[in-house]
Order: sequence, then C-alpha cells, then structure tokens
Amino acid sequence: MKLATVSHPFGLDQLTVTEGKDPGAPGPDEILVRIHANSLNYHDYAVVVGALPTADNRIPMADGAGVVEAVGEGVSEFAVGDHVVSTFFPHWLDGPAPIDNFSTTPGDGVDGYARERVVGPAQGFTHAPKGYSHAEAATLTTAGLTAWRALVVNGNLKAGDTVLTLGTGGVSIFAVQFAKMMGARVIATSSSDAKLERLKALGADDTINYKTTPAWGQRVLELTGGQGADHVIEVGGPGTLPESIDAVRIGGHISLIGILTGVAGDVPTLKLLARQARLQGLIVGSRAQQQEMIRAIEANDMRPVIDRSFSLDEIADAFRYEESGTHFGKICLEF
Ligand SMILES: NC(=O)c1ccc[n+]([C@@H]2O[C@H](COP(=O)([O-])OP(=O)(O)OC[C@H]3O[C@@H](n4cnc5c(N)ncnc54)[C@H](OP(=O)(O)O)[C@@H]3O)[C@@H](O)[C@H]2O)c1
Repeated sequence: MKLATVSHPFGLDQLTVTEGKDPGAPGPDEILVRIHANSLNYHDYAVVVGALPTADNRIPMADGAGVVEAVGEGVSEFAVGDHVVSTFFPHWLDGPAPIDNFSTTPGDGVDGYARERVVGPAQGFTHAPKGYSHAEAATLTTAGLTAWRALVVNGNLKAGDTVLTLGTGGVSIFAVQFAKMMGARVIATSSSDAKLERLKALGADDTINYKTTPAWGQRVLELTGGQGADHVIEVGGPGTLPESIDAVRIGGHISLIGILTGVAGDVPTLKLLARQARLQGLIVGSRAQQQEMIRAIEANDMRPVIDRSFSLDEIADAFRYEESGTHFGKICLEF
C-alpha cells in the first residue's frame, strides 16, 4: 500500500511517497480502514515543515476518511462497508478535555492517515455524514470540529448572535457555515476582496478587508451599533488578538484557536478585563462532540467548502498550495 512520510530535517522537500507493508487484520476492538482522503490543516503543515517537532519518518495528516474493510472481535458500532472519519484525540471520547498536547494526535505524536490502509481502535473513528464524499468527511476531524466546539459547545451560540470570523482558512469557513446554519449573523474578514465576495455568497452578512481596514475591531463595533460581536473565532493569535478584543461585546466570548501570526505576544489585559469577555482556549474536541456535529450536519444537509484536491503523490504540492494562502476553505488529498 502507498503511504507518505516526512523525514529529518523536515520541510516539504522531505516528504516521500513510498510503498509500505499492509497493516494486516484488525485485533479486538479494532477496525481496518481503507483511507481515501485527508484534509490539510495548518497543524499538519507545522508538523511537516518541522515547526512542531515529531519523530523521524512520521506518517503525517490528522484527518482521514474512508471505508471499513474489516472489523475485529467486539466491534459492534461499525460494519464492513461503513464510511468513517477519524478523530483528532483517539482517547478523548466524551466529557471535559483530558489532554493539552498532541502526543496522541495522528500525524503528530503518532502516525497519521497519509496512507491507504490503517488498523486502529474503532474508538478513533466515527461514522461519516451520510452522503458525504470521503474528502468532505475528512474536513471534519480538525477544522470542522474546532469551529463547532468554539461556537456551539463552548460558545452556546444562539440565533441572532453575531459571530466574527478572521480570514478564509478551514476553521473560519466552517465557523461561517455553522453560524449561518444556527441562525447567527456573521461578520467575516479576509485580506482579499475576491474572497470577501465568496464569503458573501456563503452567507456572511458583512465583510471587512483586514488589510485595507487595519482597525477592523472598530469597524465591527460600527457594524453592530457599538455593541460588538458575541463570538470571535480568533485564529490569528498575538497579531490579531488586540483587534479581536476591540471587536468583542461586553461579556462576549473569544475562542482562542490559532497562531497564524505567532505563538506569544502582548495582550491588552486592561481592555479585556473591562470588556468582561471570556477568552477560551481550545484544541479541537471530543469524539462525542464530533458525533453531535455530524448529527447537526446531516439534519441541515450542510456541505464543507473544498477549494481543491490533490493526489497522495502530490502531498508536497498540496502543502505548497496551502503555504501560498490562496485557498478558500479546505484543501484535500484524495486517493
Ligand atoms: N486550537 C485548535 O483546535 C485549532 C484547530 C485547527 C486550527 N487551529 C489553528 O487555527 C489557525 C487556522 O488554521 P486553518 O487550518 O484554518 O488555516 P488555513 O486554512 O491555512 O488558513 C489560512 C488563512 O488564514 C487567514 N489569515 C492568515 N493570516 C491572517 C491574519 N493575520 N488575520 C486574519 N486572517 C489571517 C488567511 O485568510 P485570507 O486569505 O482570507 O486573508 C489564510 O488564507 C492556525 O493557526 C491553526 O494552527 C487551531
């Protein structure tokens, strides 16, 4: 079977696609899955370029979707032929987060899904949404669940709330879609006017170009009659947090999700304190949250936005495309 690995000293040129050994039959409580798709995340990019240290010859990619080919003894949840999608934390099934690192995350602390076949614990997968392609299902593990948890689980989003999203990457586009699905108002930002048009087509009520309007926090206040946004999908980190604090309403909720501008920086603490806002860090979510999200997706026939798909052989090109920042929504591998 075909698989991709990334080797020391890391970087996109260190990605290799080779033939590997088939994984064999599943043991008790395990399933054998023919993986057909991955989706790319900034996290996967950070692993393959060496920004997040990992083992030599690691199989990358946290998100995998495919078809169950065999089930081990004791597995009753899945049957041969079922379409499944992987979970980000194979051991976090339900309840509050028990883990604050990536030691168990496929494609980082353990081998991931850039391979045609895998045997693993059944609890590391859920059913995929009915009618989804494998590529669509593969977008859910990381980006989909992060946006869902930020808005619905942590944010208790309700109809009429205002959601602010930053940029047009995987997490933010899912946040736009979930927010609209739940009856919220969306204010969305991007560096590109062309992408702002696409955000409007997706349902965004108001848009802001964060390059030409660097004080976008102030603009959000104007657009909300001085109130601010109820929820902010903060994917930028230190470079965007001060504006996000400007943009949030008194008592609002900022989901601290991303590090697109860096991993540490100044926080305007007095302003945050005065806003009495909740700054909530999160890493993806639990298996139960993934199942809840999939139920909501099926009930609303919601479809993820896939910008482009590549083959497994083109994995480095796919990451180069992500690096270019020209994408809107998700980039996938299909094989
Ligand atoms: N905590 C978690 O559980 C979790 C889960 C998933 C992702 N993340 C993090 O969230 C971030 C986004 O991940 P992703 O996979 O969605 O990334 P992605 O798909 O690669 O998104 C990149 C997009 O972000 C936008 N962007 C870049 N710099 C920006 C800035 N200064 N201000 C506003 N937008 C900016 C750009 O949109 P435009 O081209 O429209 O400007 C760019 O196209 C990453 O830091 C990632 O590590 C965290």
